[in-house]
Amino acid sequence: MKKLIALALTAAMALSLAACSTTGAGGASSAPAASTSMASSTATMGGGKTVGIAMPTQSSQRWIQDGSNLKSQLEALGYTVDLQYAEDDVQAQVSQIENMITSGADCLVVASIDSQALVNVLAQAKDNGIPVVAYDRLLMDTDAVSYYATFDNFGVGVEIAKYVEAKMDLANGAGPYNIEFFAGSPDDNNAHLFNDGVFSVLQKYLDNGQLVCQSGQTDFEQTAILRWSQETAQKRMEDLLAGYYSQGQDLDIALSMFDGFSYGIAAALEGAGYKVGEQWPIITGQDAELMACKNIMSGKQSQTIYKDTRVLAEKCVGMVQAVLEGGEPEINDSETYNNNVKVVPSYLCTPVSVDESNLKELLVDSGYYTAEDLGM
Ligand code: GAL
Repeated sequence: MKKLIALALTAAMALSLAACSTTGAGGASSAPAASTSMASSTATMGGGKTVGIAMPTQSSQRWIQDGSNLKSQLEALGYTVDLQYAEDDVQAQVSQIENMITSGADCLVVASIDSQALVNVLAQAKDNGIPVVAYDRLLMDTDAVSYYATFDNFGVGVEIAKYVEAKMDLANGAGPYNIEFFAGSPDDNNAHLFNDGVFSVLQKYLDNGQLVCQSGQTDFEQTAILRWSQETAQKRMEDLLAGYYSQGQDLDIALSMFDGFSYGIAAALEGAGYKVGEQWPIITGQDAELMACKNIMSGKQSQTIYKDTRVLAEKCVGMVQAVLEGGEPEINDSETYNNNVKVVPSYLCTPVSVDESNLKELLVDSGYYTAEDLGM
């Protein structure tokens, strides 16, 4: 009888996994959950265990996708999921994690707002024997984290910079072009790696004068935008335009590290009378949000980075299964992510640069968005 129930459950789960695989990221869930590295049948049974997921904010589309991808993939494996968003309020995230611990979560998945602020609550999780998986953003200064699922963050910066290099023909000596930088949140470890990646490609063009930063603001401390705020990015662009581009200088490149910034940058440009197609700079981005993709199609934004959150969720789910059921998750980096206490075994997914030339192929043909989502 037990065997029969187990078989029925396995079949039901296989069905629900198959069902989820037909939904794109723009909807809720995604495909590859079924193929996680944990293969044994006990490992695919959540056994009533609860996974607490702490996400930073619903103010950007990607985290909504990440949350729902994780939730549906974990639920399909039989786990109960407690998914919480903290709306970029650091203290709220601490409280949410405290609540997950006291209400008996068996495992935590955390995409931090300010990981520094989580050190104590993560120690509490460890004291309670609750394993923690870091999601997309590394949890710094703690030994409580077991695994880390993310993208090649340095590679994100490299891809964005290479786009600029190719688009502006820098390798063949073109220029000079004016560029301004919009880097990520200083409390997010990723932001530092993104920035390092960008400058690993572009520093030489700043040094030889092919790229000129009229504001002189190239240091991370000057260009970083706290909490990845669209409003702050817009304000920064407005200030730069007023301060350095009001005497006829053209801004050629706004190197934005996040689609949210790119919307703010575009709004500031529009506010200052710039028009798409006339003097409109190259604007980069990251996350391939739906609005960013539409803006790429209309020329308002030039590029973004496609991070397939379906794959990220799948890798993370494999880590959750490993810490809860035993076994080894899929790891492809055991060197890069030192959080000041330990090197956290990681899986780095691959970021891909998107512009109008490959948008349809990468985002629609892969089922990430539908043609209708994009108004094609
Ligand atoms: C980073 C993430 C980026 C972007 C940004 C703002 O941590 O890696 O893809 O989403 O946060 O949300």
